[in-house]
Formats: sequence, structure tokens, C-alpha cells
Amino acid sequence: MQILPLHKALGAEVIGVDLRQTLDDATIKALRSAFDEHIVLVIRGQSLDEEAQLRAACYFGKVAYRRRPLDGIGPGGNYESPFMMVSNIVKDGKPIGAFGDGEMWFHHDTSYYAEPHRATLLYSMVLPTWGGNTCFTNMYKAYDMIPRALRDKLEGRKVLQMHDYKRRERLNLDTSDLTKIRHNWQPIFITHPATGKKALYISRLMSSQIEGLSRDESEEALNQLFDISETASIVYEHEWKLGDLVIWDNWCSIHARKDFPRDQDRLMRRLTIEGQAMQF
Ligand code: OGA
Ligand code: MN
Repeated sequence: MQILPLHKALGAEVIGVDLRQTLDDATIKALRSAFDEHIVLVIRGQSLDEEAQLRAACYFGKVAYRRRPLDGIGPGGNYESPFMMVSNIVKDGKPIGAFGDGEMWFHHDTSYYAEPHRATLLYSMVLPTWGGNTCFTNMYKAYDMIPRALRDKLEGRKVLQMHDYKRRERLNLDTSDLTKIRHNWQPIFITHPATGKKALYISRLMSSQIEGLSRDESEEALNQLFDISETASIVYEHEWKLGDLVIWDNWCSIHARKDFPRDQDRLMRRLTIEGQAMQF
């Protein structure tokens, strides 16, 4: 197995593994340490059935099961299975998966859970002829880029993370009924449980209010942090090919999806890994 960095900020390609085979302990160990180092791993040319993808996910932790949104209305699919399809395909009038068409803003997966998922594994099965790239930010580097005065002001504060599957934009706190929307207060700067490094923990899609600041002050600080977190030099943009398995560290990175044609199908099979509470 070889690990080849894809970008100077984050991301590496793993070469020489066939995930249909069970990996030996030394290879699994090397894979996990590459994951901690590079944040996003890309394993191309894989031919994975559900069993093989599940086995691969287990190298990174305990596979998570999906939870329904609080209002009970979630993306389609089977909630008894750990798999979720990410797709814009509609069959018999019903979406076969989540996240539909087009662009998605930068976000962490499940930052609105008390214990946000550790990682996500996305496997490409049908792709449009153009677009639908997924962009990833190194949030350790984003943390390092925050101006000193702003960092000092925000140190030790929490940020409200919330999300509603039915909405594509950031929610407005004033018009949202929090009893119906999954949400959680999280440290704005986390210490990554595995690496011990500090990472910025905000995203344009899901972060709505900083604790202890007025609405205006909070908006100003968040907008500054959103811009930092989307700085091109710390973003790796993944251009999908069929058979790619991409695994991202969901504690120290955020991701976004670029637009793609609405009249073309895109289908990905997704698993996530259980997490733990985020600490300052
Ligand atoms: C996800 C996600 C992006 C994509 O599965 O959590 O954000 O490119 N997917 O489909
Ligand atoms: Mn996501």
C-alpha cells in the first residue's frame, strides 16, 4: 500500500489496496494513521458490494445507524440499515436517497448531534458527465488562520449547530422551531480526540449563533470564520470517478458539493462511523 498526497493542505490517495479482500492488521494500522494525517483518503477503482464497504468502514471504527429527524420526515431509504444512498434519482415519485440535486454548502456531518460522527465513507456508483465535485477543508489550518484577536474573543465559547434536511440554506434562528430541528451547542474550537490538535468547528450551512455574543457580533464573527474556512489554499476539491471510495475525518474537516446537471443521475452509497462528544 502506498499513500500519495493529493493536495498540500489535505487529502491523500491510497494505492494498492483492494477492499474486496480483508486487509491485514499492519495495513489497517497504516491506513488509520494515514487517515489521521491526511484527513481525506481517496481509494480509487474499487468494486464494492455492501459487505465490502461495511468491512472497509469497520477499519475506522463502529458503523453508525441513521436517526430520523425530530419531525420524523427524513430522506428516503431504510432506517434499519446503516447505508444511506446519496442521490438525486427519483423512482415512482419518491427520492431513493438524500441530498437531491445540485450544490450543498460547506458543513460537518451531524455537528448537530451530541456525538458527531467520526467519519463518512462515500462510494460513487453513478456519476453525471460534469460537476458534483466534493470540496474538503482542513479545519486545523483554518484554526491557525484565525486572527489572534478574534481567536482570543471566541476561545472557550460554544456555537449552536443545527440542520433541517428539508432546507438547503442556513436556518434563521428567529424563525426556526428548535423543538422540531436537531441541534446542539458545540465548542467553537475543538481538540480533535485522536490527534490532540485544535480545529475550527463551524460551517456556513449549520452554524447559527455564538454563545454570549449579540446577534450582530455573532453574525460578524461567523461570517469571518466561514470565509476563512473556505479559503481556496486549504481546500481539496475531489473530482469523482466511478468506483471511488472517499473517507473523510468529520471532526477536522468540512465539505461542500458543487452543482451538477439536474437531468443527470448521481448515486453514491454512504456509511458513517460513530463519534463522541466534542471537547474544547
Ligand atoms: C454527505 C455529503 C456530498 C456529495 O454524504 O454527507 O455531504 O458530494 N455528500 O454528495
Ligand atoms: Mn455531508
